[in-house]
Amino acid sequence: MPQISLKNINITFKQKDKVLEAVKNVSLDIQKGDIYGIVGYSGAGKSTLVRVINRLQVPTKGQVIVENQNVNQLKGRKLRDLRHKVGFIFQHFNLMNSRTIAENVYYPMFNTETKNRKARVQKLIRLVGLQGKENAYPAQLSGGQKQRVAIARALANNPSILVSDEATSALDPKTTQEILQLLKKINQELGVTIVLITHEMDVVKTLCNKVAVMNAGQVVEKNNILNIFSNPKNELTKDFINTTNNSTNAIETLSQQTKFQELSKTNRLFQLTYLGESAEHPFIIDLYNRFGISASIIYGNIEFIQGTPLGNLIITIDGQLNRIEEIKQYLADNQISLNEIDFSKIK
Ligand SMILES: Nc1ncnc2c1ncn2[C@@H]1O[C@H](COP(=O)(O)OP(=O)(O)OP(=O)(O)O)[C@@H](O)[C@H]1O
Ligand SMILES: [Mg+2]
Repeated sequence: MPQISLKNINITFKQKDKVLEAVKNVSLDIQKGDIYGIVGYSGAGKSTLVRVINRLQVPTKGQVIVENQNVNQLKGRKLRDLRHKVGFIFQHFNLMNSRTIAENVYYPMFNTETKNRKARVQKLIRLVGLQGKENAYPAQLSGGQKQRVAIARALANNPSILVSDEATSALDPKTTQEILQLLKKINQELGVTIVLITHEMDVVKTLCNKVAVMNAGQVVEKNNILNIFSNPKNELTKDFINTTNNSTNAIETLSQQTKFQELSKTNRLFQLTYLGESAEHPFIIDLYNRFGISASIIYGNIEFIQGTPLGNLIITIDGQLNRIEEIKQYLADNQISLNEIDFSKIK
């Protein structure tokens, strides 16, 4: 049973004479312990969608189940309990500027006995690495520190789910990494499920175990991270992945060189992607032995995604290529994908 189950969610906004469909028939299952990424460009419907999790937004159609409860039917105390279960953090922190850090964290705390609240505030401030800043005001903190306060506040009621809506978008790359590591720690040590909205695929790569890609209100692709990065199906997903991938730059550089332009015209320039155990497969020797063709590597990038190597090579192939479909199939059987590089598609 998933911890969060969104079933056929539609959300429409009525404006004067037109109807805007912000979310269209989205279904997502999020398991306990997931760090589930939701990626998409501005206006895709990401924020609107996640707001149904604690009923800040009521779907026009569809069902929201959180920890076995039908969210759309909750009232009174049960709705309050649900809201304690789901913490939110945002791009602009939303702190109360006239209150100290400790007060910001104390303020929303309800489901801890009053006499224990101060101690819990201390514990949360330590957890996010802000000890010593209890009596400072938000204006005295850096962006990264403000987001740490917002995280401590979001954890005040011991939620089992934390929704992060572009929480690192206003931060520099180093601070972004620090906040992402803090979220990872919260996921691992406290077992909090994280739903993470972002438009940066790098953030997804660093942190998430699953991802859904949204476009114009719809989820166009969803999968675990390894599958998405090694075998993206949708064009938008590919665009997002290319933003994190050095081989796109390499292909662009090659496309400006006459020699490679010629190779590309004769279909002799390929991108080869492999994952995990297929990394150990001696495919270059294999291509020679089985098909009589020799491949040479022009560019290579290997990175680890959740501990599994993902390789991206650009190769040229020499020899008879009339069996190319057979070659592709042979490689595909070994979890290696081979795609011709077409310079005309470079934007
Ligand atoms: N309360 C509302 N009333 C009318 N339209 C809305 C409302 N909230 C959102 N929208 C519209 O719904 C669409 C989706 O908005 P949403 O904020 O969910 O996108 P998003 O993917 O979170 O974008 P961003 O990355 O910019 O935050 C947009 O066209 C937006 O203008
Ligand atoms: Mg948004």
